[in-house]
Formats: sequence, C-alpha cells, structure tokens
Amino acid sequence: MSNSNTILIDGQEVPFEPGETVLAAAKKADVYIPHLCFHPEVTVHGSCKLCTVKINGRCVSSCLTKASSGMAVENSSEEILDLRKQLIELLFAEGNHYCPTCELSGNCQLQALAYEFGITHTRFPLQYPIREMDATHPDIILDRDRCINCSLCRRASAQVDKKDVFSLAGRGPETYLQVHSSDGTLGQSKLTVDDLAANICPVGALFHKKNNYSQRPGQRIYDNQSIGEVGNQRLER
Ligand code: SF4
Ligand code: SF4
Ligand code: FES
Repeated sequence: MSNSNTILIDGQEVPFEPGETVLAAAKKADVYIPHLCFHPEVTVHGSCKLCTVKINGRCVSSCLTKASSGMAVENSSEEILDLRKQLIELLFAEGNHYCPTCELSGNCQLQALAYEFGITHTRFPLQYPIREMDATHPDIILDRDRCINCSLCRRASAQVDKKDVFSLAGRGPETYLQVHSSDGTLGQSKLTVDDLAANICPVGALFHKKNNYSQRPGQRIYDNQSIGEVGNQRLER
C-alpha cells in the first residue's frame, strides 16, 4: 500500500483503501471510534452521531465520511468527547433504561458507552416514554422502551434476511419501531430467531426470550473489558 493512502487519527497514521470510510479504516487499525448505528453487514444509516469526529474544523460522522490522503481526524479532543457524552446522556433520557433489571446488562453497548465516558447521571430531563412492548413472538421480545431507533434491525431484516419485518414510524420524539405483520405484532411476523435482525440490537430492545440471564455478572462482555478495548464485540462477527 502506498504511503499516501493514510489518514492521521489523533496523530496516528492509519491506512485506508480507496473508497473506505474513516470509521472503517479506524476499525481495521484497531482505533476505537464509538458507534451505535453502524454494522458492517448493512448499509450506513448515520443517525446516532456517536461516531462524530472533527476534520478540517468540521464535525462529521466518520461512518459517512470517506477517508482521503493526509486527512487529519480529531477523535479524542475534549470537544468531541463532550459531544459524544451529551449524545449518550440524551439516549438515556429519551428511553426507560433500568440497567440492573435489563437482560442486556453487561452486554449492552449503550451501557458500555456510559461506563466508558464515566456517565453516572444524565443532565437532560427524563422523558419516561410510554411505548408498547411486544412479547407475542415465541422466541423474541421487543421492548420499545429501550429502543434507540438505530434502525439496525430494520436494515438487517430488509437487506440481509430479505424479510422487511421492521420500519421506523412517527417523527421526532414520537418515532417508534413498527412491525410489519397482519396485526402489527412480532408473533405474526416472519422474524425468526436466527435472523440477523433478531441478533443485531445494540441495546436490550430486541432480544431472545430463552436463556435469559444465563450469563452471570463477571462473564458478560463488558464486565471486565471496556467498549473502548473490545469494541461492539457481540454484534460484529
Ligand atoms: Fe441499560 Fe442497555 Fe438495558 Fe438500557 S438497554 S437498560 S442502557 S443495559
Ligand atoms: Fe435499533 Fe434495537 Fe431499536 Fe431495532 S430494536 S431500532 S436494533 S435499538
Ligand atoms: Fe455513524 Fe451512528 S455510527 S452515525
């Protein structure tokens, strides 16, 4: 690879392939850029903004920005870290997140990001949304209270599983995950437990019914390692 195909992330040289995004190049070089709505098997959505970096004085989403030779990327300046911290706090305020009772606790990327950023509370008013839970499927539960509207399940279902089970409906704070089936429930949908859509949720919104709480504290991904060290390990195979 020629030397010109490199970018600088916080001063560290990172190689890239032509056409590759800053986030993809960083991941290959084991440079951690936080992200929640990105997954390598589906198209980019660019909605969570956790992957924001600063390039040439502008804040941009690294999952949407193509790398170009000599590009200098700020990934861990105080400004960028504070922006990400605010975004994480907003996600906690917008949903109902009671981690100790959550199936995904210890494996959840939102919780892991809160630990990573030392977040102990949110500065934003809690919204306490009332959203419908769906436990009609024999194997899978949808708890919309914890949904961060990342659209990963929607994209996985449409693009990889070829079933198109989900869409995001409503606008702004009223946005919610809609299920496509005869009566709008998961139980009547085509979703099956092996679908990528049933295994891609970064939080505890869409998860399996069986084997609940089978991993004890201490055995879960982020119990002993930070998300900065191991990344979004559960999802990115
Ligand atoms: Fe906590 Fe994550 Fe569950 Fe929300 S989804 S309650 S952040 S563990
Ligand atoms: Fe994202 Fe999970 Fe909500 Fe689907 S259920 S949109 S994967 S948070
Ligand atoms: Fe880039 Fe979500 S990962 S906006």
